[in-house]
Amino acid sequence: MEVVVVDGEEKAGLVVADIFCRALASRERPTFGVATGGSPLPTYAELIRRHREEGLSFAGASAFLLDEYLGLSEGHPGLYRTFIEEVFAGGVGLPAERLFGPQVHGVRADAACAEYEERIERAGGIDVQLLGIGGDGHIGFNEPSSSLASRTRIKTLTQETREDNARFFGGDVEAVPMHVVTMGIGTIMEARHLVLVATGEGKAECLARAIEGPLTARVPASVLQMHPHVTVVADEAAASGLELLEYYKETYRGKPDWQSC
Ligand code: GLP
Repeated sequence: MEVVVVDGEEKAGLVVADIFCRALASRERPTFGVATGGSPLPTYAELIRRHREEGLSFAGASAFLLDEYLGLSEGHPGLYRTFIEEVFAGGVGLPAERLFGPQVHGVRADAACAEYEERIERAGGIDVQLLGIGGDGHIGFNEPSSSLASRTRIKTLTQETREDNARFFGGDVEAVPMHVVTMGIGTIMEARHLVLVATGEGKAECLARAIEGPLTARVPASVLQMHPHVTVVADEAAASGLELLEYYKETYRGKPDWQSC
């Protein structure tokens, strides 16, 4: 696992945008797993800037939503599809037909989960999976106690997660759906490169538990310790609970050229 500690969330966005750019440059049909929440926003903003000002092209690329709410009407502003269209896809010229997500309207959610898994497989899997981390250590919407081998399925959110996400629903916790569809932990682990972004001191404890604590379903993000290619990008505040902080910094400073990402 590579831990990159940066000075502020804008810098985190630059590091992650570089990873996206390398995938765009090296693959004909790159596939990206895209996360919601606040953590990836500087990355999306930087990618949009590079698209507009430097001609960065997402032609041939596809994106897959990490998770989605159940029970919101089609076109609801709280839907993660709407969010990703607004903060990322629309700005980089990725058309709606190449932004995939679990089908949560008009079909049974369990059938939609299986179909989504097949969709990812048909695309050849995911090259770069962007992740945030929940305060309770969740990735996607895989709450504590999720099977570390789970596939895309319906989950029930914890009260803590609904409270954290109420800010996207006008501060109203009751408006945050209780049920969601999320890529499973096993699904996420099949992506070729996992990139987790954590910023702000509110993430310090969960990030330390995920990176340096024991591997446990109690902290779903700790499963990243089992993946062969993980980049964690954290600002100083989020990294402040890491015991090996100085080692990570020294390693990144001395990173050889041949180690491209
Ligand atoms: C939600 C999303 C996660 C995200 C988490 C953290 O629960 N389903 O994918 O990682 O929020 O969000 P933030 O980055 O806003 O802290």
